[in-house]
Amino acid sequence: MARERIVSTAQVNPEEDKSQLSLRPKLLSEYIGQNELCDKLKVALDAARGRGEAVEHILFYGPPGLGKTTLAHIISNEMNSKLVATAGPALQKTGDLMGILTNLNEGDILFIDEIHRLSATIEEFIYPAMEDYKVDFVVDKGAFAKVINVPLKRFTLIGATTRAGLLSAPLRDRFGLYYHIDFYTPEELCEIVVRSAKILKTDIDDAAAFTIAGRSRGTPRIANRLLRRVRDYADVKGDGDITLDLAERALEAEGIDKLGLDAFDRKLLSIIIKYYKGGPVGIEALAATLNEEVDTLVDMVEPYLLKIGFIQRTQRGRMASSSAIQHLGIAVANDDPQQKMF
Ligand code: ADE
Repeated sequence: MARERIVSTAQVNPEEDKSQLSLRPKLLSEYIGQNELCDKLKVALDAARGRGEAVEHILFYGPPGLGKTTLAHIISNEMNSKLVATAGPALQKTGDLMGILTNLNEGDILFIDEIHRLSATIEEFIYPAMEDYKVDFVVDKGAFAKVINVPLKRFTLIGATTRAGLLSAPLRDRFGLYYHIDFYTPEELCEIVVRSAKILKTDIDDAAAFTIAGRSRGTPRIANRLLRRVRDYADVKGDGDITLDLAERALEAEGIDKLGLDAFDRKLLSIIIKYYKGGPVGIEALAATLNEEVDTLVDMVEPYLLKIGFIQRTQRGRMASSSAIQHLGIAVANDDPQQKMF
């Protein structure tokens, strides 16, 4: 039934391998969580299908690993249309995009991951494509320059971004549908783990599934990754079945603590607490101390720490909370004037 045709022009989510793809739901009916979003999306798809039209352009925004790419593939399956996948940084020249756009048929989907990283030139080029289904392509240079107006088929652009705030207003305004994807509840993640274990043909206790879910930082991609690590552990150290005791031992061996924090999260928190006396510390200084990119901290590491209240983002920089200090078990000297916040 689902006959998605995928053409990829760039490596989207390189950390995801083919086996990860197979755990992804292919239809809306298989999708767990984001219920409100799925209800609204279903109405939009049914309406477009009923009118025999392409779906309006859609923007998905939210932290990584929550299902933006999965939803784009689901839309392509549900609409029985071809999906061409690329990413903002991969689109360097208008000629590249021109080739992609002119090869799209009626109702096809162009998926642009990290759409906030499109260059200004590409962004301007894409406006008339989104709005009027045409592009103005400049050929030749100088006195010989000519603008060719090329009509396009009515396609659907699906943009995904971890940083909606970085999108220019003109680009944002050209999306008819705009969906925020939020962290999943432990119950939803538990359902996802059980579903994935079934696909992987692995037996798992409810308690073990819930433990994996609870340490997945609200993120299905992490839940599926942890499930695979626990499955490896169960295959090597046990009989292949995932029990609570085995899951706990496997996660501990992976350095994943009870809240799902890994060694890097703990390092970031302890640097704010010990090195910067609880903060505030600017994100650039923090990134430099950790020898990491600012974007990686902002996109991948911070969102969950902010959600659970372990760090706060203030105008003067990042601060660690007292619950983060307690979780890490760090003793703070009371007579240190810079620690009076605690
Ligand atoms: N695998 C990854 N994300 C999922 C989701 N939201 N529902 C079901 N399976 C998933």
